Amino acid sequence: MIYAKSLLLLSATVAVVAGCATFPDAESTAQRAEQMVTEAHTLGAPALLRRTTQDESQRACSSPGGAKLTQEHSATIVKTARDSIKYPASGKLTGDWKTGAQLVADGRGQRIINGQVEKLSANGALCINCHLMDAKEVNAGNVGPALTGYGTQHGDSEAVARYTYERIYNAWAFMPCSNMPRLGASGFLTPEQIAHIVAYLIDPQSPVNK
Ligand code: HEC
Repeated sequence: MIYAKSLLLLSATVAVVAGCATFPDAESTAQRAEQMVTEAHTLGAPALLRRTTQDESQRACSSPGGAKLTQEHSATIVKTARDSIKYPASGKLTGDWKTGAQLVADGRGQRIINGQVEKLSANGALCINCHLMDAKEVNAGNVGPALTGYGTQHGDSEAVARYTYERIYNAWAFMPCSNMPRLGASGFLTPEQIAHIVAYLIDPQSPVNK
């Protein structure tokens, strides 16, 4: 009887040890994964390498094992996102909608071409990869909600311009961990480019509102 009990204890211990050997804990798995991603980028381009390291908010958003985001984390992400928002030096949050129209369909910038990172003075925004904006556009994605008639629905007041600007600058200030990239905060788009895109969304003359 005593023999059977200690055997049981022994096998339980073996199982626990074996379990540990097969499944490293979540934190070291995450670290290993991050290391693999970093090592896979051999181009040495600082702009790309920076993006292989998660910031605190991304870390909280990708907590292992499908763990729910706590209210505290969520509030921190929103606050960090809010604090990141910078405005154009001119103070004008609405630019030229025609320039905006070009930007929303432009996917150039930071692409890898012939093993080299494309060098451009400014990136395109490629919003239409995820959003339908101009109802006549046939080549639009649906990862994000359709934004057709955005200005017709919301108007083109100063408050709407500010909200739209901030939403594009850092979507996580409104929707923590959303799939919308933090385009201004990451330095991908400049404040002036974002102002042109705001105009494209809210100007009554823009095809978005026709
Ligand atoms: C990778 C896909 C993706 C890209 C690229 C993207 N978005 Fe989004 N966007 C989303 C998703 C998903 C949402 C919904 C979640 C949220 O609100 O953050 C969203 C939400 C929005 C909203 C809020 C919509 C509403 O009804 O309140 C606006 C405005 C917006 N995006 C504008 C833009 C603009 C402008 C660009 C380009 C500069 C852009 N997005 C690029 C995925 C994307």
